[in-house]
Amino acid sequence: MVCLVANSEESPTPAADPSRPWLQLAPDYERARAKEDSLDRLVEWPAQRELLGDVAGRSVLDVGCGNGGKLAELVRDGATASVGVDISGNFLSAPPPGLELIQGDLSELDSVPGLAGRTFDRILFLQSFGYAKDPVRTLQAARAMLTDDGFILLTRTQPIRYAVERSERNGTSLGEEYFSTDEFSYRSGWNDDIILTKRAYTISDLINEFSAAGLWIETALEPQLPAEARRRYPHKQEWMNKHLGILIFKLRPRPGH
Ligand SMILES: C[S@@+](CC[C@H](N)C(=O)[O-])C[C@H]1O[C@@H](n2cnc3c(N)ncnc32)[C@H](O)[C@@H]1O
Repeated sequence: MVCLVANSEESPTPAADPSRPWLQLAPDYERARAKEDSLDRLVEWPAQRELLGDVAGRSVLDVGCGNGGKLAELVRDGATASVGVDISGNFLSAPPPGLELIQGDLSELDSVPGLAGRTFDRILFLQSFGYAKDPVRTLQAARAMLTDDGFILLTRTQPIRYAVERSERNGTSLGEEYFSTDEFSYRSGWNDDIILTKRAYTISDLINEFSAAGLWIETALEPQLPAEARRRYPHKQEWMNKHLGILIFKLRPRPGH
C-alpha cells in the first residue's frame, strides 16, 4: 500500500513511506471514529468484540492500534499485560494500568522494542494489515508471538468496495477493477487533503497470505448494521448497500507448519 499526500487540487505527491500520512491523519481518524454514526462504532467494533469473546485474563497485542482506545476498553474488561503498537504515536494520554502503547512499525514487528520475547493470547490487526510491506512476513512474526491457544483477529476492507468506486470513476466494469493489479488512489474520507494509494487485492490474495504464513481461517464474518441502526442511520445503510463493509477473520496457527 502506498499513500500520497495531496495539496488541495494539485496532483498528489507520492510519500516516500506508505504509512507516513498517518502521522497527519491519525487525529482525524479518531475524531471520525468517535462519531455516533461511525461504521466503526455501529458495525466493526461490535463485531470485532463478539469474535474476540471474553478477554478477562487474556493478554492482547493490538497492531496498528490507533490511539489505543479499543485496547484500553479491553483492558478495562479484564485483559492483562496488553500492548498496542502504532506508527503514528498519537496515543491516549492516560492509558489504564496494564496497557502499554509503543510507537513502532508493523512491517518490522519482529524487531519492535518492547515486544522481544513476549507472547500474547490475542493479536489484533484491525484495518492495519494493508500497511505491511511484506504481509506474509508480518503475519509470521505475529504467529510466532501467539500463545498455544492464541488466535489472530484480522480485518480488512472488502476489496469490492474499491472496485465499485474505481469502476464508477473510470467508467469500467466491476470485474475489470476487482481483478486489476494496478495501484489506485482516493481522497481519505477522514481528511480530504490526504490521498491514499493502495495496491489492489482480491479475497483470494488475502486467503493465500494467511495460508503462506501458516494460518488457517477458523471464522470469517462480513458484519452488517443491526436493524435498529439501519432505521436510525439510513445514510449508513445506503453506504453499506453499495460498499459492503469489512471482512473479519479469526486465524489460528496451522499445526506442524
Ligand atoms: C484505519 S486505522 C485503524 C486503527 C485501529 N486499529 C482501529 O481499528 O480503529 C489504521 C492504523 O494503522 C496504523 N498504521 C499505518 N501504517 C502502520 C505501520 N507501518 N505500522 C504500525 N501502524 C501503522 C495507522 O497509524 C492507523 O492508526
